[in-house]
Amino acid sequence: MIELVNVSKSYNKGEIKAVDNLSLTVNKGEIFGFLGPNGAGKSTTIKMIVGLLNPDNGIIKVNGIDNQKDSLACKKQIAYIPENAETYERLKGIEYLNFIGDIYNTPKEERRKITQKWAENFGLEKALNNLIKSYSHGMRQKIILIGSLIAQPEVLILDEPLIGLDPKSAHSLKEIMREHCEQNKTLFFSTHVMEVAEKLCDRIAIINKGKLIASGTMDELRAMSKDSSSLENIFLELTEK
Ligand SMILES: Nc1ncnc2c1ncn2[C@@H]1O[C@H](COP(=O)(O)OP(=O)(O)O)[C@@H](O)[C@H]1O
Ligand SMILES: [Mg+2]
Repeated sequence: MIELVNVSKSYNKGEIKAVDNLSLTVNKGEIFGFLGPNGAGKSTTIKMIVGLLNPDNGIIKVNGIDNQKDSLACKKQIAYIPENAETYERLKGIEYLNFIGDIYNTPKEERRKITQKWAENFGLEKALNNLIKSYSHGMRQKIILIGSLIAQPEVLILDEPLIGLDPKSAHSLKEIMREHCEQNKTLFFSTHVMEVAEKLCDRIAIINKGKLIASGTMDELRAMSKDSSSLENIFLELTEK
């Protein structure tokens, strides 16, 4: 579970208000999509949740733990994949996964199961023993995703995870998201791709210029809009208001 209460963040000494008094609750067991146009404040919000940035105001709790008061305990709950995630060029894929497994104390048998399942799913089995510097962009994304699963986090946070993935890999990613939630864990991801959110999410929040403009299930969002045929129309209508 993730709770944000009246969270704000500005850059350049208040000149740029990136996140403006945002309150939001993400429950366990739901796929929660965080939507907004470029510059809306999605990444800034995510960086505050994972503890990379401190909010100017407000409270953030992850599974009930205040991330300002007990940041390490908070981080232990989370696996986070940033947009343009970087990895370790000089490790082999399998070494990277074992490195993550060591950090998060994941038992060897669990690592093996997760690696086998998802390396096969992503078509990465034959690359695991090669150096990551030889991987394509998509392969890097995949190894990082598998790493996030090896961490076996309670809360998985993905910033624009679908960018750069081909349709089959995007499908596998959606499966990962669903499986994570079926274990009654929390999944929070940002996207500006409406169709994805529409098909995948149990609940959605839309932000624009740092402010929450709507949140709820697809049905609830439809009820707020005159033209409820697609999330894109709802989004355009709400962001233009
Ligand atoms: N490091 C930074 N310094 C100054 N302004 C920033 C910085 N990061 C983001 N911003 C600004 O904050 C706003 C929100 O950005 P961001 O959180 O990256 O949005 P999103 O992820 O939704 O595209 C934008 O106006 C952006 O230009
Ligand atoms: Mg962003």
